[in-house]
Amino acid sequence: MNPGIIAVAYLGASALFILALGGLSHQETARRGNWYGIAGMALALVVTIVGIVTANYVLLIVALVLGGALGYYLAQKVEMTQMPELVAILHSLVGLAAVLVGFANAVEHSPAYVGIEKTIHDVETYIGILIGALTFSGSVVAYLKLSAKVGGKPIKFPGRHLFNLGLLLLAIWFGAAYVEASAQGAGMTELVAMTVIALVFGVHMVIAIGGADMPVVVSMLNSYSGWAAAAMGFMLGNDLLIVVGALVGSSGAILSYIMCKAMNRKFLNVIFGGIGSSSGGGAAAGAAGDEADIKPIEADEVADLLKGAKEVMILPGYGMAVAQAQHVVREITEKLRGKNINVRFGIHPVAGRMPGHMNVLLAEANLPYDIVFDMDEVNEEFPNVDVSIVIGANDIVNPAAQEVPDSPIAGMPVLTPWLGKTTIVLKRSMATGYAGVDNPLFYKDNTRMLFGDAKVRLSEVLQKL
Ligand code: TAP
Repeated sequence: MNPGIIAVAYLGASALFILALGGLSHQETARRGNWYGIAGMALALVVTIVGIVTANYVLLIVALVLGGALGYYLAQKVEMTQMPELVAILHSLVGLAAVLVGFANAVEHSPAYVGIEKTIHDVETYIGILIGALTFSGSVVAYLKLSAKVGGKPIKFPGRHLFNLGLLLLAIWFGAAYVEASAQGAGMTELVAMTVIALVFGVHMVIAIGGADMPVVVSMLNSYSGWAAAAMGFMLGNDLLIVVGALVGSSGAILSYIMCKAMNRKFLNVIFGGIGSSSGGGAAAGAAGDEADIKPIEADEVADLLKGAKEVMILPGYGMAVAQAQHVVREITEKLRGKNINVRFGIHPVAGRMPGHMNVLLAEANLPYDIVFDMDEVNEEFPNVDVSIVIGANDIVNPAAQEVPDSPIAGMPVLTPWLGKTTIVLKRSMATGYAGVDNPLFYKDNTRMLFGDAKVRLSEVLQKL
């Protein structure tokens, strides 16, 4: 195919990917954003297959069908709550692809590169394999932790920072040795040694990070997988891979930053420190109040409270996703709005288990977007709220973040329903949330606990309404 046509098609695909990212940043335009992404990917695939690949079509089609079928099957099967682990394992494939492409490239020793160009090409190959290998092993460990196939607790070896520094210096040393050896048509030993180092580094970095920080790690690995793809683009001289890799790399980095801000953590602190909490859902760690202060409530009383309210705030969390209670929540919302009660939703940026988790569920249940607000928009409203309903949320409504300076979540911005008239907390027990920290909200004077599965209990409330 004419290189001009390929370049124009790649430019079009890049523009579609940028439009996709733009669309995905607002819920009203997310669906359209997805379509832009699909169109961009289809265009990129067709042009690459028809225009760039010129041989081995049978192999290519077999691989495409196999990969496509597997991807389709996984996407159909995956539960919304398992999405972070699916994303983690998919990142590992990008890393693995970068390693394989890098080695294929190194074995080829293309005669097209000489002198300084060859050095640059070798450095690109080396860096591509390095990022790819650590993305691969780090993502596999993140997947194992997120899917609870290994424990979520951080494993920290003594002197680990020194060990990491040692690995980095070794990787740099092997890099210089590789460039030198590659000029003589050799260098495979150095490449393999560096790959082993990068694999060890990826495992060592991620096992040291606690369960509560995993989302940041996944988005950081997302960013790495982008840079690995960009490095592949340089290796192969493919502009589209460079652009798309840079888009993924930078958007992953921005997302990590946003999440760190929402948890009030410093990025380097997450990577090198780790608050080291459990993988979540465990028993209450050090109760934050007296058992006698817990005031249970029943569904009919909740219905009465709601009927008497003018302002209702719904604060969903991970438990709403587990119980799949979003449809009942929509029905309750409709009932209340029908009675002229103002119902709003307050969404914490890290509610649930992935960015935008709650927005996706609420959109799935067809809740109108204009009653769904970000945490910052609703936090000053609570003094005017009659009833807040916390549905399967815990860490994101934990006053300890503000009141207990040595709490592991101290400083994390939280929703503040306790400033309103009455808070109803819906969860199954007094167990802690993801960060493994007990919650003083449950013991406050104006809090009532509605115990049980969110969907079951809310269905009862709906019936009483
Ligand atoms: P959590 O703090 O994890 O609390 C969820 C609560 O839901 C649990 O305490 C649990 O209590 C309850 N629950 C579970 N299943 C339930 C069911 N079927 N019915 C009723 N309640 C149920 O969730 P959150 O408040 O949404 O906070 C999110 C946490 O996850 C933060 O610590 C955040 O840093 C972390 N995190 C966030 C992300 C992103 S990016 N969103 C990703 C990973 C981790 P019971 O067991 O007593 O029912």
